[in-house]
Amino acid sequence: KLPNFVQIKEVGPRDGLQNEKTPLSTEDKIKWINMLSETGVTEIEYSSFVNPKWIPQLADAKEVGKGIKRNPNVTYSALVPNQKGLEFALEAGIDGASVFMSASETHNRKNINKSIDDTFPVLKEVIENAKKAGKHVTGYISTVFDCPYEGKISPNQVIPICEKLFEYGVDDISLGDTIGSAVPSQVEKLLHHLLPRFPKEKIIMHFHDTRGMAITNIFTSLQYGITRFDSSIGGLGGCPYAPGAAGNVATNDVLYLLHGLGIETGIDERKILEASVLIQNKLGRVLPSRSLLANAN
Ligand code: HMG
Ligand code: MG
Repeated sequence: KLPNFVQIKEVGPRDGLQNEKTPLSTEDKIKWINMLSETGVTEIEYSSFVNPKWIPQLADAKEVGKGIKRNPNVTYSALVPNQKGLEFALEAGIDGASVFMSASETHNRKNINKSIDDTFPVLKEVIENAKKAGKHVTGYISTVFDCPYEGKISPNQVIPICEKLFEYGVDDISLGDTIGSAVPSQVEKLLHHLLPRFPKEKIIMHFHDTRGMAITNIFTSLQYGITRFDSSIGGLGGCPYAPGAAGNVATNDVLYLLHGLGIETGIDERKILEASVLIQNKLGRVLPSRSLLANAN
């Protein structure tokens, strides 16, 4: 039986833009995020408080956070890698902090410059301080299926990280198919091992659509009772430290699937289309979402 309601987190302003070559002005980001805020989506990841030398596209996180018009029905979250990032994020205004690490040792080092073991105390401090400040905390785990450097990742590498992050106090965990390589049997295997251990309401699936598998992987996750997904408008995005990683699954395509299945999201597809057209025009390229292509061009 499929769920009746699914919650979507819009990650386009963060995961989408972090890998875009065309720079977008702070003003345009604010205008676009304000538009996204009126689509019915309940969570927007609006930027990253990481080292701006690593991700120059999001160097204006503070100005964006201060500039957006907050809709009280929306949770505004941002990526924070360490205590310094959390301080900046709290100044800029966040409802939620997203910490992140990888299940693969090599990807973790490339992405955040530390071993997995050295990452735990850093995240523990951030999680505890964010909770003390009354913020929602999500823990991202990248490369949960495959790593571009190490190959297949076993559920046995993912489960202990989930255990630690929950013990430190995260409210939920988002599992990243960072390089968009998983097929449904991999999703089934991971969820089969994970769901007896952790409440399914606290598990979010984060698929990239590099090989066109994201929608089928979402359908598979729905059959396991997963009701929370990350997606990015138009299918923007990637991961700068995962070679070949393409965009996130497109919000437009996820909504087409869910609404077609009779699953509610509270999101207005027409408003998502308008926000997709705006960003597509600003970036000057056709975005990969198939539903967007069918409707807008
Ligand atoms: P580091 O260089 O090891 O950090 O970076 P450090 O503590 O040694 O500091 C070095 C310099 O960075 C210092 O500046 C710090 O002040 C500065 P300096 O003295 O040299 O001038 N610094 C900062 N500046 C601003 N904000 C901060 C901050 N922290 C240190 N928060 C760090 C470690 C984690 C910061 C770095 O590796 C980094 O920024 N990495 C971010 C990488 C990233 O954003 N990757 C993409 C997001 S993850 C993703 O996309 C996957 C996901 O979507 C899920 C999926 O798809 O799988 C979530
Ligand atoms: Mg991602």
